Amino acid sequence: MTGFPAARPRRLRRTPALRRLAAQVSLSPAGLVLPVFVKGGIGEPQPIASMPGVVQHTRESVRKAVVEAVEAGVGGVIVFGIPAVKDARGSAADDPDGIVQVVLRDLAAEVGDRTVLMADLCLDEYTDHGHCGLLTDGGEVDNDATLERYASIALAQAAAGAHVVAPSGMMDGQVGAIRTALDGAGFGDVAILAYSAKFASAFYGPFRDAAECAPQFGDRASYQQDPARSADEAVREALLDVAEGADMVMVKPAVGYLDVVRRVRDSVDVPVAAYNVSGEYAMVEAAAANGWIDRDRAIRELLLSIRRAGADVVLTYWAAEIAQSISD
Ligand code: PBG
Repeated sequence: MTGFPAARPRRLRRTPALRRLAAQVSLSPAGLVLPVFVKGGIGEPQPIASMPGVVQHTRESVRKAVVEAVEAGVGGVIVFGIPAVKDARGSAADDPDGIVQVVLRDLAAEVGDRTVLMADLCLDEYTDHGHCGLLTDGGEVDNDATLERYASIALAQAAAGAHVVAPSGMMDGQVGAIRTALDGAGFGDVAILAYSAKFASAFYGPFRDAAECAPQFGDRASYQQDPARSADEAVREALLDVAEGADMVMVKPAVGYLDVVRRVRDSVDVPVAAYNVSGEYAMVEAAAANGWIDRDRAIRELLLSIRRAGADVVLTYWAAEIAQSISD
């Protein structure tokens, strides 16, 4: 006999009001970021078979989608571009008339500082070989030559009105190279959201359909992280990025890497984002379409899990829908 009454954790679960009061983690529209795809040279939005409900936008349709998302209260949008023409060096990525730059200027004029305009900064959507950097003659991704391209893309995106550039190519030194270039060109107030811990993941499959960027040979395992490494390496990458000037850091994918989100959250003093990626989206949508899962509950549960693991910001294809349902 200890003399203590029996523990009754169920007391706080008894009514919806008690559960609401006791809740410690929530989804707020302001912490959700909507990824959007825009494609050059198309007349109508194109559905993406492996991402039901997501489209490749035209210049006009993306404007409407972003206005709706901003009205629903999302914290930001991140723009991915698919150029009409690709080449070995991804020339469209830093062309002032390239699709992302055109759309950033449109969005800056339309929604301006009412939201946060982010641009994914990478080369894979723009290169004909589909890798995230320039290739050597031997077909390897050339880290340092790629950094020069990233610096130039950052300047084009900043000049077009991005508040935040988000390098996702996992080249060593990318944050420092971009920060130096931005500062040198008078863009000291443009922030960097670094994809710091980005794993070589099968869950990017549907995105590669959406962005038409599957590697034409090989894979990304020589630059993206190995899922078999411990979270220590991810923490190291995040700390390096903060030291190089990252204003926020990201873990990607989110759901399979919640331990990494927690470790990074506890290790840095900047906001941490997590990317609820295309394969995570597709799994839920496919199961729901088959009647195998309660779609709305599953989405909320996954997003709450990501928040509970410590993400301050969540990038998700459900951002506008969830933001709208919270503000209704
Ligand atoms: C690379 C990039 C990828 C994603 C975001 N940025 C794909 C990749 O690394 O192959 C994946 C996003 C998703 O799956 O939703 N620019």
